[in-house]
Amino acid sequence: MLFGLKSTVYMVKVSYQQKPYRKIMMESYGADVYASPSNQTESGRAILKEDPNNSGSLGIAISEAVEDALNHEDANYGIGSVFNHVLLHQTVVGLETKKQLEIAGDYPDVIYGCIGGGSSFSGLFWPFYYDKVIKKAPKNVRFIATEATACPKVTKGEYTFDHGDTAKLTPLVPMHTIGHDFIPAPIHAGGLRYHGIAPTISRLATAKQLETRAYNQIEVFDAAKLFIQTEGIIPAPEPAHAIKGAIDEALRCKETGEEKVILFLLCGHGYFDMQAYDDYLNGKLLPYEYPAKKVEESMKKLRNLYPWLDEVKKKYI
Ligand SMILES: Cc1ncc(COP(=O)(O)O)c(C=O)c1O
Repeated sequence: MLFGLKSTVYMVKVSYQQKPYRKIMMESYGADVYASPSNQTESGRAILKEDPNNSGSLGIAISEAVEDALNHEDANYGIGSVFNHVLLHQTVVGLETKKQLEIAGDYPDVIYGCIGGGSSFSGLFWPFYYDKVIKKAPKNVRFIATEATACPKVTKGEYTFDHGDTAKLTPLVPMHTIGHDFIPAPIHAGGLRYHGIAPTISRLATAKQLETRAYNQIEVFDAAKLFIQTEGIIPAPEPAHAIKGAIDEALRCKETGEEKVILFLLCGHGYFDMQAYDDYLNGKLLPYEYPAKKVEESMKKLRNLYPWLDEVKKKYI
């Protein structure tokens, strides 16, 4: 509003319902917020016609936003993750972290972050990865991406070409995917429920420059609770995955007697996630695991859609 720009937000329906205060915050700033799938777009209407109770996905919300931008001369679509320009502008976080560690006279042995599309974690680790590539890193620093077992794109997905959105309006992208038709379970880490990932994360994971771990939401909230009660900060469910990784690493070090500098990204507070904490405290969370069989089905559909996929994959990936 400060720059005279109006915004329209397509918010995944389950998040719209689970996190009403996020919606109200965006509306207070002047945005129009629609629960996606919505009746505003062809893609939304087609999905609702087939399944009126569809709870939405980031892939569907992207389709609606892209379609809205295509149909309005005065609108542009702003992507919030996955692509290099978004990851690059987040590196301000990693650059600042390096400076702070320099002041402390330290350097990380291992870096943890959560991955939805991969932007916040890349923003943190890229400056340290650069040190490694130019052989200026004082330690053999490791990078560990954490994801949800309910949306295990890197740990269980296939590295191939897939669309970034459900209606296939976006180009094919080389990335790990569990399928553009993925409909997530209603876990509370809404930001990690994306079927694909930044192509750079996929490249680095395949080259074994980056490791991945998947956690279910119960073990993640157990870690968040310990963090809250020791640090006094309430994390969002997304970074609680990185906290789980960091705590496990610290416990391992405690056992082996190793001394390690463990860096993790606290990429969001959880003050709008009180429903999630309430569900956790009252034992209502389920430890969702996305079945490998479902990934196989989606990959089969993708190959039927693009019979030349394997040939292209062999050539470029
Ligand atoms: C708090 C928070 N952390 C992480 C993410 C994941 O996105 P990315 O991997 O692009 O950082 C999201 C996405 O919405 C988020 O809301």
